[in-house]
Amino acid sequence: MCGIVGYTGPRQAYPVILKGLKRLEYRGYDSSGVALLKDGSISVYKKKGKVADLEESMIGKNIDAQIGIGHTRWATHGEPSDRNAHPHSSSSGKLAMIHNGIIENYAQIKQELQKKGYKFLSDTDTEVLLNFIEDIYLNNDDCSLEEALRIALKRVSGAYCILLIEQDNPDTIIAARKGSPLVIGIGKGEHFLASDASPIIEYTKEVVYVNDYELAIVKPDELILKNLGNEKITPYITKLDMELAAIEKGGYEHFMLKEIFEQPSTIFDCLRGRLDAKEGLIKMSGVDNNIEQLINANRIIILACGTSWHAGLVAEYIIEEICRIPVEVEYASEFRYRNPIVNKGDVIIAISQSGETADTLVALEKAKENGAFIFGVVNAVGSSIARISDAGAYTHAGPEIGVASTKAFTGQLAVLMMIALSIAKHKKTITDDRYSALVLELDQVPEKVQAILKNADELKAVAEKYKNASDFLFLGRGYNFPIALEGALKLKEISYIHAEGYPAAEMKHGPIALVDEKLPVVFIATKDLYHEKIVSNMQEIKARKGKIISIITEGDTATAELSNDYFAIPPADELIAPILTVVPLQLLSYYVGTLKGIDVDKPRNLAKSVTVE
Ligand code: AGP
Ligand code: GLU
Repeated sequence: MCGIVGYTGPRQAYPVILKGLKRLEYRGYDSSGVALLKDGSISVYKKKGKVADLEESMIGKNIDAQIGIGHTRWATHGEPSDRNAHPHSSSSGKLAMIHNGIIENYAQIKQELQKKGYKFLSDTDTEVLLNFIEDIYLNNDDCSLEEALRIALKRVSGAYCILLIEQDNPDTIIAARKGSPLVIGIGKGEHFLASDASPIIEYTKEVVYVNDYELAIVKPDELILKNLGNEKITPYITKLDMELAAIEKGGYEHFMLKEIFEQPSTIFDCLRGRLDAKEGLIKMSGVDNNIEQLINANRIIILACGTSWHAGLVAEYIIEEICRIPVEVEYASEFRYRNPIVNKGDVIIAISQSGETADTLVALEKAKENGAFIFGVVNAVGSSIARISDAGAYTHAGPEIGVASTKAFTGQLAVLMMIALSIAKHKKTITDDRYSALVLELDQVPEKVQAILKNADELKAVAEKYKNASDFLFLGRGYNFPIALEGALKLKEISYIHAEGYPAAEMKHGPIALVDEKLPVVFIATKDLYHEKIVSNMQEIKARKGKIISIITEGDTATAELSNDYFAIPPADELIAPILTVVPLQLLSYYVGTLKGIDVDKPRNLAKSVTVE
């Protein structure tokens, strides 16, 4: 994963890089570092810990340079430490490099280099690649660094985005990518390089997204893009549609809280221009232009990871219910390594907030090779998954910085609901009345989420009561079963409390053994088709003295009485309910995490964008 920043131009490079690293810290935060090039010498500074630790360690250091590269790491090879932090220097000290990704065949290359006498100062795969490049560079007459890089990259397997600087090349950054993202910002006589656009946005809105197997030679006033065959490619300049305010905290204590509270407006943005409740219409160009493909799908396969996978599970229930198309939801990481059956006529829906998740991306490449039609439901505009998709619909939730996904999830649910409704309408598998009712309900979601957020403090009190529990169980049925999974994932991620999500009825087949007077059990028990069933499950927990926290529909006093604690949400159709029921669970996790003193935006061991396997 990790965040990468580079700068070459007339400004001081260090402040640009440092600010950029802070913006990218969500991608990795176990160590960080910078390499600055000035007067034919490269200075490397690196530090274990967060970017703030690096910043502190830089006080009093000479930071004068107009070219530099910086990295915030999520360790894959070698523990987080000063020594393993990036940038790495080559054996001769002439080169410095940062890397996002994994070089899978590094061990073999390392052995070869060790035989030649190379010594390694870190445990990383990155240092191996760097010395491999240098070995080719120094031992082949007339071989340029760019050529050496090309030769090296042809030999390595795995994923990378690398930035490389050379002592004797005072204004050039060489970059390359395969599988890990890279954006280049075009300024006036300056260039910015980064893993996403957030470090670039305040300087320029003109960017080039570098593609896999491309190399960029970046100087202050020149950007050359080439493929690995050394042929030039014309850079395709895109205009960023993002404001600086969208990536700042805006007065909230954490990005996660800001993002939870943004949901009325992000869901509204997601529906805007697409859902016309008055006319009972849904217009989505990605869907409308491919409607034949979608309505004639023999099967829909949804590929995603983590929270996005949970959105896929909700979509499975909805699509099967109203479109009558069989749906399979797969972990992308499993799909890519099995020998899945993908037939012509199957549609793949890929769901991803970042659009860069390596497992999802590679699974899609595999499905594409088999001729599948790929529809992307992605949040990050211009990301790799958005670009590999044949068609798609953005979730328009804006940049999500908190590691725990919140507003992107509700955006995914809204988009998937609109896709399902469009297909069902065209396929005539839904009655006009049901369609209109669901369109109206969807239109009311932003308002209902707002009403839920007004009572956020009630969940703070619940969090205070249960924050010291060592385990939690989350139970739901039907459309709310995936929300039970999501509630458990959120809590695990940001409070480090062990939590499990289960279909409520499945609880009696095993997890019920965990129930005692200390176990909080969160029930998603809103009024729906399964309500009476889930109330029976609540009784079963109560009989065993478990503590019941329930998410109920306003006015449902009977379920409230059965619960030790409850949170009421506005009534909603059961197909729409998951977009609402998840919000109190996001808040509950947030409050438990912060009450325990955890940095919920950057919980341990995680990273926002999982660009490694
Ligand atoms: C969500 O809270 C997680 N941090 C994680 O499970 C995430 O949803 C998963 O890594 C998928 O990411 P994506 O949506 O960017 O592809
Ligand atoms: N594999 C490299 C390392 O462990 C890079 C990891 C990253 O992407 O941060 O240092």
